[in-house]
Amino acid sequence: APVKTDNAQLIVPEGVYAETVLSVTHYTDHLFRFRMTRPAGFRFRSGEFAMIGLMVEGKPIYRAYSIASPSWDEELEFFSIKVPNGPLTQHLQRIQPGDRVLMRKKPTGTLVLDALTPGRRLYMFSTGTGIAPFASLIRDPETYEKFEEVILTHTCRDVAELKYGFDLVDEIKNHEFLAEVVGDKLKHYATVTREDYPFKGRITTLIENGKLFTDLGVPPLDPAIDRGMICGSTAMLKDTKELLEKAGLTEGANNKPAEFVIERAFVG
Ligand code: A2P
Repeated sequence: APVKTDNAQLIVPEGVYAETVLSVTHYTDHLFRFRMTRPAGFRFRSGEFAMIGLMVEGKPIYRAYSIASPSWDEELEFFSIKVPNGPLTQHLQRIQPGDRVLMRKKPTGTLVLDALTPGRRLYMFSTGTGIAPFASLIRDPETYEKFEEVILTHTCRDVAELKYGFDLVDEIKNHEFLAEVVGDKLKHYATVTREDYPFKGRITTLIENGKLFTDLGVPPLDPAIDRGMICGSTAMLKDTKELLEKAGLTEGANNKPAEFVIERAFVG
């Protein structure tokens, strides 16, 4: 039976947590981050997503959201777009600290370390809100136990949309224990496609013309050494996947680890 919570109108359906919003940061007209309480029994692997929702006119509306916080964090973080008529995000963008957000109890996803075979260098290719699962993984010490070098690429249309990624890296550098664990293993490569900026272009173009590798001072993709995770739009996933396959990497899954994994970023 549905449980009535102390939040007057909020009936929490079964199999769902109702968590309290702790903070909200708006980056642009299209992007925001929020943090909320983490239920005591909730376990997930860094890089997984959960179904996040709100009650809208008496009905729950859910969308898949990558958990942007690492698995050790006592709070949960999410990075979201705002879509003016988006069924969920038109409401979610207005949440305030103290509000309740619904979360289904079972997390899932393929962007997890377990889905990759051992390697030396891990690439995380992201566009837009596709950075969210990597926000989790770059703050997880296990990532640095498994890989000698971690390269996070983030491509957005405009410079303002890169801010969340820069904030994450600053936070890591100033974090009391992560700073030491991460050391100089993490490289952040941020580019834009529709504004002037020192680093320009789609990640697919930069892989194809080799600029990504010369800028980073690393050799071209090598299936013996390099592993990849991709998160972005459907078109971005397809194009990036093709380039990794051309370089000889094969796609893996939870039950069949291989050299790269992909997942669609949240939209709408
Ligand atoms: P572009 O500005 O050239 O379209 P979106 O908001 O449309 O998802 O785009 C986010 C970022 O991903 C943009 O910088 C966009 O570049 C880029 N992008 C869009 N489609 C692809 C694709 N097929 N491959 C690589 N990057 C892409």
